[in-house]
Amino acid sequence: TPYTNLFRRPPVLMPAEEGVDEKGPFQKYRLTQKLGRASILPGLTTTIAGYNGIFPGPTIRVQQGTRTEVRICNALPSTNTLNGRPFSTVTHLHGSASLPQYDGYANDQTKPGQVKRYKYPNWQQGRTLWYHDHNHGDTAQNVYAGLAAQYHLKDPYETAQLPQGEFDVPLIVSDISFNADGSASFEPDGNAGYMGDVILVNGVPWPKMKVKPRVYRFRVLAATISRSFRFALSTGEPFYVVGNDAGMTPKVNAVQSWRQGGAERYEVLIDFRKYKVGQKIELQNLSNKNNVDFANTGKIMQFEVVADSGPADTYQIPTALDLGPQPFANRGAIEVNKLTPDMATARRRLRVQRKNSEWTVNGETWADVERSEFTRVLGNPKPYDVEIWDLVNESGGWFHSFHIHLIDAQIIARNTTSNGKAHPWEGGGKDVFYLGENETVTALMQFTTGDGNAGGRYMTHCHNLVHEDSDMMIQFAVGDLET
Ligand code: C2O
Ligand code: CU
Repeated sequence: TPYTNLFRRPPVLMPAEEGVDEKGPFQKYRLTQKLGRASILPGLTTTIAGYNGIFPGPTIRVQQGTRTEVRICNALPSTNTLNGRPFSTVTHLHGSASLPQYDGYANDQTKPGQVKRYKYPNWQQGRTLWYHDHNHGDTAQNVYAGLAAQYHLKDPYETAQLPQGEFDVPLIVSDISFNADGSASFEPDGNAGYMGDVILVNGVPWPKMKVKPRVYRFRVLAATISRSFRFALSTGEPFYVVGNDAGMTPKVNAVQSWRQGGAERYEVLIDFRKYKVGQKIELQNLSNKNNVDFANTGKIMQFEVVADSGPADTYQIPTALDLGPQPFANRGAIEVNKLTPDMATARRRLRVQRKNSEWTVNGETWADVERSEFTRVLGNPKPYDVEIWDLVNESGGWFHSFHIHLIDAQIIARNTTSNGKAHPWEGGGKDVFYLGENETVTALMQFTTGDGNAGGRYMTHCHNLVHEDSDMMIQFAVGDLET
C-alpha cells in the first residue's frame, strides 16, 4: 500500500582512514559486496546483494580536492543462483572523470573472494554521482539485486548556495516486482527491458516523508533497470532545477514536471513553506511513452508537512548559481556551460538501432569490441579536445537513456522541442541523454582528463541496463589507447 512505510535515508559511509600526503588530502573507504536480507514488504524478507549488504548502499560524501581510495571486497557467493554464473562484479563511479583502470571497465571483473582498490580523483566541481555494478552481461541483474548507491562530491560553492544537511536529501528511485514469498523476481521482456510494478525510494516502497515548512533539496537518481519517470507534484507547484548530472546548473529553471531516464541525476528544490502543517503532497510519476505502467507506478512518495520549532526559513530560491572556478583551466579545461560549437574539432554521429533484434550503436556491439581484443574504438580524441556528438535514436518504439563515460556535455540541440533546444530541465552538464522515440540529441563535450595522463579507453552505452547487457555498448579512447 502506498504511503504507509516511513521514508529513510541511506547511511553515510565513514572513511576507514584519512590524511594528507605529498599530493594532498586523501580518504580511504572500505565496502564489502555481500548478500543481505531486507524487509521491503510487510512481514516478508527479500534477499538482496548490496554494498555492505544493504540497498541502497551507503552514501559516500567527499570534498572536492580530496582523493579517495575505495577498497571493494567481493564477498558474494561464488555462484549467483539466479543465473548460475560466478557472482563477479565491476564497480563504476558514474559521473567521475576516473582513470580508465578505475572506471569500472565492463570486463575488469572482481571475482568472488577478490578485492579491488578503486582510486577516484574528485577534482571535479560538486555533483551527485552514483556507484553501481557494471559487470558485462550481468549489469541489469546485479544492479537489480541491489548494487547501487549515491556518492556526493561537495564543494564550497554548492555548500554556500544550496540547502545542506537535513535539507539535502538523496532520492534513489527504482522499480521492482516480487514473488509471493517476498523474493524479488526479475523477468525482463526479452532484451527490451524490465519494468517492475512496485516503486522504491531509497529501498522503501512508496514512502511517506515528514517535511518541515522549509526549502528542501532532493538529489533524484533514477536507479532503474529500464523505467523512466516524469515527476510532478500533486499540488501543481513547481520544482526548481538547481543541478544536473554534472552538478549545479548556471540558471535555475522552475518546471511543473520533468522527464528522467535511468542513471540521470536531477537536483531540485521544493518549497514546502507554502503549505500548511498537516498537508499531504504527493510526488507523482506522470506517464512517459514506451514505459509499462501498473496500478501504482504513477505514485512515487508522499510528503507530510509537520510543525517546525526552529526559526523561519529565510532561504531565497536562487535564479542563478555561481559554479566556482573550473579545475585544470590552466591545462585548457573549459567549463561545460561555456563550451561553444566552434571549439569542436570533430563531429560524430552515433545511431542507436535495433538490428535483427540486437541493440547496436552504429551497427556495432560490445561483442565486436571484445572480438577486437578491446582495440576497436569509435574515435580517439586527444585529452582536452572538444567534440560534437549527435545521438540519434533510430530504433522506433523504444527510448534509450544514453551514457558517455568521462565527459560532461552541454545539450546544444534536440530535434523534438519547439525551439530545437534542450528541455528547460536539461541545463548544465550532462552525462546521460534521454533519447525518446525518434529523438536526436546534439551534445557538445570536452575530454577533460584532469592532470593530463588519464588517457585510455572509456565505454559509451545505453543505460537501459538490459540493452547494455545485450550489447548496446561501444568505446572510445582518449589519447594513448594503451594506457
Ligand atoms: Cu552508470 Cu557505464 O554507467
Ligand atoms: Cu537502450
